[in-house]
Amino acid sequence: MTRISIDLRRRLGTVDRRIFGQFIEHIGRCIYGGVYDEGSPLADARGFRRDVLDAARPLRIPILRWPGGNFVSGYHWLDGVGPRDRRPRRSELAWYAEESNRFGTDEFIEYCRVLGAEPFICVNMGSGTMDEAQAWVEYCNGTGNTSWANLRRQHGHAEPYRVRYWGLGNEMYGGWQIGNMNAHDYVKKARAFAMVMKRTDPSIQLIGCGQNGWSEWDEITLSGLAELIDFHSIHLYTGGPDHYATVFQSHQAERAIRICAALIERVRYAQRIAHPIHIAFDEWNVWWRTRSHEDRVGGVEERYNLSDALAVATYLNGFIRHCRTVRIANFAQLVNAIAPIFTNPRGLFLQAIYHPLRLYAEHVQDVALDVHVAGETYALTPDQESPGGRVHHVADLGPFTLVDASATCDEAGRAVAVALVNRDRDRDLPVTLDLGGAVIAGAVSAWEVNGADVTATNSFETPRAVDVRERKLDARGARLEIMAPAHSITVLRCDV
Ligand code: AHR
Ligand code: AHR
Repeated sequence: MTRISIDLRRRLGTVDRRIFGQFIEHIGRCIYGGVYDEGSPLADARGFRRDVLDAARPLRIPILRWPGGNFVSGYHWLDGVGPRDRRPRRSELAWYAEESNRFGTDEFIEYCRVLGAEPFICVNMGSGTMDEAQAWVEYCNGTGNTSWANLRRQHGHAEPYRVRYWGLGNEMYGGWQIGNMNAHDYVKKARAFAMVMKRTDPSIQLIGCGQNGWSEWDEITLSGLAELIDFHSIHLYTGGPDHYATVFQSHQAERAIRICAALIERVRYAQRIAHPIHIAFDEWNVWWRTRSHEDRVGGVEERYNLSDALAVATYLNGFIRHCRTVRIANFAQLVNAIAPIFTNPRGLFLQAIYHPLRLYAEHVQDVALDVHVAGETYALTPDQESPGGRVHHVADLGPFTLVDASATCDEAGRAVAVALVNRDRDRDLPVTLDLGGAVIAGAVSAWEVNGADVTATNSFETPRAVDVRERKLDARGARLEIMAPAHSITVLRCDV
């Protein structure tokens, strides 16, 4: 028996909606053939795929990161503005591709407006210069009579774009990154970029380029940039062939957050930094099947199964538990490339991981509650953690409760949402939900993500192998007894 105890008075903090952010990069078919598909009967007059927009809307994306990713470290934004037919076609050296530049800054801003998302632009700190980054901020946000602001106006955009979030480079530590460098060199360069970007528009918020939260790179860059940044970024990709390794590796995000939060606290204390610094978890996902260096073009079209959906829900529970530190998160990525939405020229299907992303964005309330889970646990062994690949060892974080849960309520403490992830591969598990004296008023709505077994995978042929089933539960009193079906996510909503 698993017992989940929630006390509505034990509030952890506010859940920042920006944790439901997404990311689109010029990689594989994410932009071209996903977001943007000129000439397709499925695209609108602007070239935006209507079916993709319809699938993206329910994800209620508050913030959208662009244009990379590794791509940005070789990207010159000026190539991507102005009359489309005159834009240069370039070699794209991050993913061994070609870039038509037909989707650029103005198209990205328009896409954000259509989705109601705040734009988040990561600048090129690889092959790019600080003048270029400065000019980009001025092109987007400038209100003066300068050539960059006027260029935007010439392109038909009288009003400034007011892009608030700017990333100082992507994964600059990595050998695969164009123009990668060591942490000290990065600090020097990022300080120079930050100065001119901030002077151009003091209202912008800067995201420093972190690594995984626990590395020396994180330590050095945080202490070198603390006074200038509002966020420190973390990227994490997990998962492997073993079901239990996949679902429990999501807890590595919480290790990253804990260590990074401590580094941030130390730096703020040591340097007497008054302004807050939060974590922008600006790339996260399950990703291990298609990550070869040989096939980087089509090689990012990961197909997701039910295990992966449970892993994604576990990540989200972790972000909710750490709501005071993680204030932005961007799922990598929105469409086709390691993505919940998968297209072909004729349509799309929703991958298994789409469902938790959507259900959480829809039902999670504003206030995170402290949750206590007591129940059967599972101890992961180190050799379960996928031989070969890039794995994250989390066995030491266990044993893990088979059921993972998060709970949120609205400001008034009336509307409650509880998310339960039963990560047991085979067994239904009985759960008692104890609301600590609060009494359930009316019916409980439940949405369950499930499939035949953990390998269930959606495709064009089987788009509903993993799907959501909605039901009403009859409940009274301060307790709810439910069965959490094997390998399922259940989101419960009720009033108390
Ligand atoms: O999201 C795919 C890639 O993963 C991004 O381009 C890069 O930042 C990370 O390595
Ligand atoms: O080994 C580097 C990794 O390879 C990058 O993070 C990713 O972009 C690629 O798959």
